[in-house]
Amino acid sequence: MNKGETFYVTTPIYYVNDRPHIGHAYTTILADVLARYARLLETPTFFLTGTDEHGQKVYEAARKNGITPQQQCDDTVVRFQELWKTLEITHDDFIRTTEPRHEQVVQQILQDLYDRGEIYADDYEGWYCVPCERFFTEKDLIEGNCRECGRPVQKLVERNYFFRMSAYQDWLVDYVEQHPDFIQPAHRRQETLGFLRQPLCDLCISRPKSRLSWGIELPFDAGYVTYVWFDALVNYISAIGYLSDDVRFNHWWPPAYHLIGKDILTTHTVYWPTMLKAMGLEMPKTIFAHGWWLVGKDKMSKSLGNVVNPMETAEIYGVDPFRYFLLAEMTLGQDASFTEEGFVTRYNADLANDLGNLASRVVKMILRNLNGTLPAPPELTDAETELVEKTLAAVKHMENYLNDMQLDRGLAEVMAAVRECNRYFEQMAPWQLAKDGSTDDLERVLYCAAECLRIVSGLLFPVMPGKMTTLRRSLGLPEKDLKPRIEELAQWGGLESGMRMADPGSLFPRVEPRDQATATTQKKQAEARKPTPAKQDESNLVDIKDVGRLSLKTARIVSAEPVEGADKLLKLVVDLGVEQRQIVAGIAKHYNPDELPGKTIVVIANLKPAVIRGVESNGMLLAAQSKGEMRLVTVEDKVPGGWQVS
Ligand code: MSP
Repeated sequence: MNKGETFYVTTPIYYVNDRPHIGHAYTTILADVLARYARLLETPTFFLTGTDEHGQKVYEAARKNGITPQQQCDDTVVRFQELWKTLEITHDDFIRTTEPRHEQVVQQILQDLYDRGEIYADDYEGWYCVPCERFFTEKDLIEGNCRECGRPVQKLVERNYFFRMSAYQDWLVDYVEQHPDFIQPAHRRQETLGFLRQPLCDLCISRPKSRLSWGIELPFDAGYVTYVWFDALVNYISAIGYLSDDVRFNHWWPPAYHLIGKDILTTHTVYWPTMLKAMGLEMPKTIFAHGWWLVGKDKMSKSLGNVVNPMETAEIYGVDPFRYFLLAEMTLGQDASFTEEGFVTRYNADLANDLGNLASRVVKMILRNLNGTLPAPPELTDAETELVEKTLAAVKHMENYLNDMQLDRGLAEVMAAVRECNRYFEQMAPWQLAKDGSTDDLERVLYCAAECLRIVSGLLFPVMPGKMTTLRRSLGLPEKDLKPRIEELAQWGGLESGMRMADPGSLFPRVEPRDQATATTQKKQAEARKPTPAKQDESNLVDIKDVGRLSLKTARIVSAEPVEGADKLLKLVVDLGVEQRQIVAGIAKHYNPDELPGKTIVVIANLKPAVIRGVESNGMLLAAQSKGEMRLVTVEDKVPGGWQVS
């Protein structure tokens, strides 16, 4: 991903036999994020995805659904296209292998290879399962029977066409050995080299129409269709103008990355390179195989009923958090585990607590204390050294980790800068500076925190384009700069004096896992069904004799703001672990709203709801007071909300 070069990135094209799952979503989001980073680096970028519409799988699905294969394709392709729209995927092209622009290129390639003797006819001998209508090799069989249905198979000889793949074996081994970047990560490169230690056979590239009619007809024999992989792999060149637009093709080819899952390594690192070599084309720079998403420890499968539907997850938790989670959680090359609990934990820690709260506190303080207008970039002091260094280091780290395909580590560095900014904010206590009238210091601290957010939001933009646009807009950046550019991110001091801040709202409201959410709702409903106790004297609720009836819990303050028209009251949103509540408290004279988020306090959780100055209050916080002074009862260490206090 370097300036001056082009960046062409592809995903596998997906079978249209079923709806998209998290695996499909992952590769496509990964490609999208790489493409967006490349654009941020001002590298000309082309991002291709699409669907693989021929072959046995699609044919079978159509038969099962009682529709034609073309109908199967047309119905299912929409699911992929809609999902990509929802997930904010910015592909430059979407290719379907049933489009004439693709079919024509496949046929031209076949004809050319046939004319040059690279494809020849021969008898194919194998074990055939009549009910499954499939060929198997000897080693595919299970105790001599079909590996799919377990029934006996019969030896069959069938006339077919073959591509002289074996002729390229030595060349391919040399090529892989001399180009360490060609297959990544390194253990997948070893896997391919291991595969190539066995003699390579020629590749059967045809299927007689009597067995399978759903495919591209061989141009030199109308009795056959093309083997689905020989058709599918060609999408990477047909989409960018191979044999139809030389200038365009030469501009983009070869790709920087073919992104694939580990299960389609051989087709991409053996079949495809040998096909390209026979066509006389340059090799892709890197074929990168990522690991699989497991659900907990299990493989995802329809029969286990654990298939993660990306549309549903993004709808519940938001597109940006979903994109962030997938990239932050998977170390490229290894398997990763998706669980709702894991998702919610990371979301709450990284996005709700660290980034979301910081953004909201910084902008709100500028709105309240500086009239929403940013001061001039201040002279930096020693107190800012670490913040500036960590923030600018995140830019460099992200660039380097991107080139090494270690996006999770790049994101971890960005989050480290966010955490440093939180530490700086707490340490400098700008609410105190405001109280003391230390305007210069206050301006410097708020400027620096906002500036860190500008850089961080730019670095996270490719991963969370929606939320980071909101954040950048709230920092006062003009519309033309909402999409970041690398030069601007690598420089401290990009925010300008006079820029107007706006409240970003709650960027990442805390969430709870769905099963827990359901449990909470059910509990609430059950509670609502309980007969309401007879009206009693209010003093009963907190009488010392009844202390056992009080439910005292820790609560983490999420946000705090004044109650309009009531100068003693603050409206707090507190997190009790399984739910968030609003509490109105008479502490405005003693606390600035900006210093409260993040504190863990103690609340009476089972107090009757009340409406105070028109605002609903669900609980009461504990505070110590004497002679007009008041301090909140807080809990030491980083205790989360929801602990029982006794
Ligand atoms: N049509 C072929 C690819 C042709 S490319 C010229 C195909 N399609 S697929 O729809 O079955 O799979 C597409 C991709 O999804 C593959 O890269 C595969 O590795 C990936 N995944 C399928 N299940 C997955 C997970 N559970 N996790 C991550 N990716 C996985 O193969």
